[in-house]
Amino acid sequence: MRAIRTAYVVLSTALLLGAVSADQAIAESAKPAAATKAASPIYGVTIPDGYRKWQMIAPAEEAAPLDELRVVLGNPAAIKAIESSTLPYPDGTILVKLAYKRKQSPDFESATVPGQATTVQVMVKDSRRYASTGGWGFGRFINGQPADLAQHQTCFACHAARVKDRDYVFTRYAP
Ligand code: HEC
Repeated sequence: MRAIRTAYVVLSTALLLGAVSADQAIAESAKPAAATKAASPIYGVTIPDGYRKWQMIAPAEEAAPLDELRVVLGNPAAIKAIESSTLPYPDGTILVKLAYKRKQSPDFESATVPGQATTVQVMVKDSRRYASTGGWGFGRFINGQPADLAQHQTCFACHAARVKDRDYVFTRYAP
């Protein structure tokens, strides 16, 4: 009798545990992406929410070997700063560069269109947190995952060498 009762307790406990972990699994998968977003090494920058709806600052094209089309977008703080010619950019500014392989249009020979997405790159202005890199935090993402440490060690040096006088930002507002 006692053995049967013990078995019953074990079985119902197992079911209970099973039910609990299934619920947990559902709760985990329902969490917004923001909670699990991976951050860049060195800077801890993540892909900002809603950036695809931001305003365009300018498109760009990169020659071989990369052969890419790019577009740089800015959050409202970035656009406001550009429109009022404010330099340095204020804290809270975020710039995002989307890059794609160049592809010949399947619909029209001479047209080039975005092919495969390659990187999403982010610059976040926070003058205190990123004081040692001109106030900018950098992030490069491939398929939503941050690139490695070595790549993040190159960001500031190139931007600083070329466009320090424009607050380390290459892109000019397209006419
Ligand atoms: C060798 C030079 C070089 C390096 C290294 C580099 N960039 Fe840039 N970056 C550029 C150039 C040039 C542009 C202008 C847009 C274009 O031509 O693609 C740019 C533009 C950007 C922009 C748009 C804002 C702007 O300045 O125009 C972001 C965001 C950005 N880079 C992020 C990064 C991140 C993150 C890294 C490191 C992982 C990085 N960059 C490393 C050259 C560089």
